[in-house]
Amino acid sequence: MILDRVKPLDAILAAAEKKSLHRSLGAWQLMLFGIGCIIGTGIFVLTAAGAQKAGPGLMLAFVIAGAVCIVAALCYAEIAAMIPVAGSAYTYSYATMGELLAWTVGWALILEYAIAASAVSVGWSGYFSGTILNEFLGIALPQWLSAGPLALGGEPGGFINLPALIIALMVTWLLMIGTSESAKVNAALVAIKVTALTAFIGLTLTSAYFDPDKFNPFLPAGVFGGFGTGVGAVGAAATIFFAYVGFDAVSTAAEETKNPQRNVPIGLVGSLFFCTVFYILVAAGAIGTIGGQPIMGPGGVPLPAGSEELARQCALPAYSGALVCSDEALAHVLRRIGFSGIGNLLGIAAFLALPSVILVLLFAQTRIFFVTSRDGLLPAGLSKVHPRWKTPYVVTLLTGAIVAVGAAFFPVGQLADIANAGTLYAFAMVAVAVMVLRRTAPDRPRDFRTPLLWFVGPATIGGCAFLFLNLPLEAMLVLPLWSAIGLLVYFGYSRRMSHLAQGIVEVVDDIAGEETMIPIDPAPRSD
Ligand code: ALA
Repeated sequence: MILDRVKPLDAILAAAEKKSLHRSLGAWQLMLFGIGCIIGTGIFVLTAAGAQKAGPGLMLAFVIAGAVCIVAALCYAEIAAMIPVAGSAYTYSYATMGELLAWTVGWALILEYAIAASAVSVGWSGYFSGTILNEFLGIALPQWLSAGPLALGGEPGGFINLPALIIALMVTWLLMIGTSESAKVNAALVAIKVTALTAFIGLTLTSAYFDPDKFNPFLPAGVFGGFGTGVGAVGAAATIFFAYVGFDAVSTAAEETKNPQRNVPIGLVGSLFFCTVFYILVAAGAIGTIGGQPIMGPGGVPLPAGSEELARQCALPAYSGALVCSDEALAHVLRRIGFSGIGNLLGIAAFLALPSVILVLLFAQTRIFFVTSRDGLLPAGLSKVHPRWKTPYVVTLLTGAIVAVGAAFFPVGQLADIANAGTLYAFAMVAVAVMVLRRTAPDRPRDFRTPLLWFVGPATIGGCAFLFLNLPLEAMLVLPLWSAIGLLVYFGYSRRMSHLAQGIVEVVDDIAGEETMIPIDPAPRSD
């Protein structure tokens, strides 16, 4: 039977209990942590791609993507508070739906975390080149050093995105030598990001350039542009969903949270709600001042974001300064409405803060690989811990190399869409896991129960599927292809090497600490 290997929930919970990490985080800290992970390239950079897909309807796109994330977060909150161990959606799936599905989730999480880290690196590169090099140092990086050549849709690129490659490798190095972001540094970076966005909102919404006519037509590409086209408000929502990715990192802090039944959901939903409101106001400010109508192609359909034709149009004087053509959207808006100095400060804020988003995503990816390797599904050598640094340095280096290659050679919009495809799959599977557990283990104590689960669960699955189908076709196709490769690895290696199949349940508590090993009967079933 192929779905028979389920990790016993008891073992996982026993290990979680044994670990007894100090519970020190409150709702506020969780919310700060969440906002720190969430605000990044999505709002600072992809606002331009979102406007190209939906025009002013970008504001509606933020509402749609935010709503899907909020229902997903409610599911995450129940399972994260119930199974507070490393591995996030991968571990939840292992305990509920078995090894094979857990493997597919872990495999999809590589898209969520590693490819998202690549996307944020490329987003950072735009601000580094535009603000730091160009505005401050007067250096114009040649195109061949500032953009990758590869785009699935055929974007005219450069040769390599050197700044993106370097930042990805630098963050990898920091993680390898054991840097973790302290709560204080995170709070400072959140303050920088929120201040930058608040200044943006204040200056744009009160600007003399603000003109309600700029919102007309509000939906130039309609609400629904058609499955696989990636345009319209829903197409923009599927891309801009990236701006919310990372909130699930909050769930990984559940085990360090005081009173998790109250604080985890407040942290998750609170940070998402806060970001949704901010994002809508930022979109309103950007579009209301410099306009955000898409550049249309044949048949009145917006040209694909990141396409060769769009780049050609953007080079024409008619579109010089258009929001949809900018690599550093928010700084660009402020410069255009006469606040060059503040635009540059916003650029510096992005320059300083985006690396911490890369750090969180890379960290999450290394931990997923680490747990998977401790389960025997990936080679044990990967989970080697460095004697001095106390970090899983092999897996960190490997992850960093993947992230750096993605960052060096692919454009930001495409990386974000691919990351979204993996994330949407993982979120949907978490909703399934929560519903399965309600049926298979109804009496287990739950610190937090998802309200209206039989509505919220299906809404999460439906919302994720809907956004997935509205991604551009190329990004959509990556998920089945990637999963097929994953299944080859699983049936070629992991299934045979699985520790669970050999009768050992290992639950990872702590990288540098000991894992709990519990011998059991081979091929166990869940409770
Ligand atoms: N939500 C994160 C960002 O926008 C990943 O950069």
